[in-house]
Amino acid sequence: MRGAAAWLLGAAALTGAGAVLAQNASELASQRGRQLFNQGAPACALCHTLKDAGATGEIGPVLDELQPEADRVLRALRQGVGVMPSFAGRLNEADLQALAQYVARASRGQP
Ligand code: HEC
Repeated sequence: MRGAAAWLLGAAALTGAGAVLAQNASELASQRGRQLFNQGAPACALCHTLKDAGATGEIGPVLDELQPEADRVLRALRQGVGVMPSFAGRLNEADLQALAQYVARASRGQP
């Protein structure tokens, strides 16, 4: 009986640790996204306004208003849109994904 209780406690502790790790991972990804937004070449912040990133660019749409889904951001990043250049050759796949997730969440005021 005591064994089962200890096992349950252990499992609960592990689940808790897993949640903390997952939270840290998503926090890290969003930090990476914010960094890329401001430092990409050229930086999204030059052309776009996004409150969470402290960006006030005025050439492209205001992302806080557009609130694009991650897929829509990815399409713009891969193919470019109008004046906006494609970032396909400048950012690796992980960074493209991090940026798209970040813009989708941050534009909706989500962490
Ligand atoms: C040189 C200026 C410029 C830079 C740099 C730039 N954009 Fe844009 N972006 C634009 C313009 C202009 C549009 C609108 C294009 C159109 O609709 O013709 C746009 C459109 C978009 C859209 C909307 C696409 C759609 O489906 O309508 C998203 C999302 C976006 N940009 C994200 C980003 C991100 C993320 C970055 C950084 C990696 C970035 N942009 C860098 C100018 C820029």
